[in-house]
Amino acid sequence: MNYHVLTLFPEMILQGLNTSITGRALEKGILSLEAINIRDFSENKHNKVDDYPYGGGAGMVMAAGPVYRAYEHTVDSIKKSCLNDNMEKKPRVIYLTPQGKVFHQTIAEELAKEEDLIFLCGHYEGIDERVLEMIVTDYISIGDYVLTGGELPAMVMIDAISRLIPGVLNNDVSAEFESLQDNLLEYPQYTRPEEFMGKGVPEVLLSGHHGNIDKWRREQSIIRTAKNRPDLLEKANLSKDEKKILEN
Ligand code: ADE
Repeated sequence: MNYHVLTLFPEMILQGLNTSITGRALEKGILSLEAINIRDFSENKHNKVDDYPYGGGAGMVMAAGPVYRAYEHTVDSIKKSCLNDNMEKKPRVIYLTPQGKVFHQTIAEELAKEEDLIFLCGHYEGIDERVLEMIVTDYISIGDYVLTGGELPAMVMIDAISRLIPGVLNNDVSAEFESLQDNLLEYPQYTRPEEFMGKGVPEVLLSGHHGNIDKWRREQSIIRTAKNRPDLLEKANLSKDEKKILEN
């Protein structure tokens, strides 16, 4: 997977993703990441990228020109790096905005299948609508709150997508079986010591009986989802017996 992030704060993206699991995957070459500074495409004496909004109102709007040129430069460099040079499919361009579709695990799964992804991070009061209409394929929000820019949302998405790419996590099975699989939250986890400040570990986990452990974990997932995310539970596939757990 090759990520291309159009931003006014490239160092934020590079520093944020060059550590931990994504950092290791970048080092291994399973992922690649470039942060393209929109300001480099300003063509303005003072490298200005924003201007007053037509019609008045508070704040500044990012101008269409620098964003479009940064996009064209990125698509050109992707084309050049393709072996056959006539890349038929244009890469998806994701604009991070609170007005977009809310990000979800299934969107991460779908995007993880792409070869290249371009993220467009806005600042100020947004980006001139005309360039968005020309280049953006997906409008995505990471939740119903307003952040100061699209960089953190882009990093959130890149993290969630990357862990689904084979080889990024050490244990490929865990990406499949973790939280939100089948619309259930993950069960509680414990590690040594067996007793911590007077609190023990659930007996079943020490039993070595894998059937009972799996059953207990599934029950815990159901109980936890019912308590914290009843909206998800409605979409989960529960057996008759499992539905009974909730009646108690
Ligand atoms: N930019 C500002 N707030 C955002 C949000 N909640 N999601 C995506 N992009 C944003």
